[in-house]
Amino acid sequence: YEADALAAIAKASNATELEAARIEFLGRAKGRLKDVQALVGKVSAEERPVVGKRFNEVREKVTAACEARQAELNQPKSKVDGIDVTLPGVAIRLGGLHPITQTIQEFRDIMARLGFSTADGPEVEDERHNFEALNIPADHPARDPLDNFYIAAAEKLSGGPKLLRSQTSTVQIRVMETTQPPIRIVSLGRVYRPDEVDATHSCMFHQMEGLMVDRGVTMAHLKTVLRQFVAAYLGSEASIRFRPSFFPFTEPSVEVDMRWRGRWLELGGAGMIDPNVLKAVGYDPEEYTGFAFGLGIERFCMQRFGVSDIRRFYDGDVRFLRQLA
Ligand code: PHE
Repeated sequence: YEADALAAIAKASNATELEAARIEFLGRAKGRLKDVQALVGKVSAEERPVVGKRFNEVREKVTAACEARQAELNQPKSKVDGIDVTLPGVAIRLGGLHPITQTIQEFRDIMARLGFSTADGPEVEDERHNFEALNIPADHPARDPLDNFYIAAAEKLSGGPKLLRSQTSTVQIRVMETTQPPIRIVSLGRVYRPDEVDATHSCMFHQMEGLMVDRGVTMAHLKTVLRQFVAAYLGSEASIRFRPSFFPFTEPSVEVDMRWRGRWLELGGAGMIDPNVLKAVGYDPEEYTGFAFGLGIERFCMQRFGVSDIRRFYDGDVRFLRQLA
């Protein structure tokens, strides 16, 4: 019995054959083990312990062989229906952070090293934070409904006009309203403008706002911080320059350019905070001065990676996005 059983089990080349062998040799109802067991019942009382022990050993051995063969048959074979299952699988590509998100994180880290913490503000804003407190009066052309995304339904719901913020300068006001100098913050986020969409314009883009307020803050601090920032991001050869400009909330105001790889590239606007803005948040302009800047994040990113069309950032085409990761 033992030799027959082990041979049959070893011969079984699939689960069905193995099961047949198992039933034949170990089956509880009609298996050949029953016959052997019957013989054990017939031996004399003295012999019974020895024979019984041997019976148990054989049963265990055959059962173990059966299980071992089953495990073997369950192992994947190296070739199944012409598919080589030993070939390495297709690598799973993990998702990644969007290049704009990566740039935001990098900017935030650099500014943190310069002592600036991060502040946030809502994307749906009221006119006080987007305009009034920033010294942009009601008749100013920047407030034209055609140049802003006013939200028609919001007026009824919240008792005043609301719009998608057109600049992150709103966060300057929110921070100054709730804290006292010294202040050193950056705020990175989305802004919205109903511009005609083309290779360099999008109706939504990102800005990094910077704000520093304290006693004795000067334009030299502004220039130093921006120079340190571009040097940290692009390397020490990158330099910056200021061009006179105008913003209602800064005086004097400048446009900031940076020199990188032999070209001057526009970074954004900046200036010393207008005394009217300091007054609007309850600061004494005789005591405190400050600077602010607002940089376009996409533009920075496009220049750094050589991207010629801003729309690529929002197409969601991973073939493009992966190249910048
Ligand atoms: N908010 C301005 C813009 O969006 C940029 C700016 C920020 C200018 C801070 C001066 C100071 O164009």
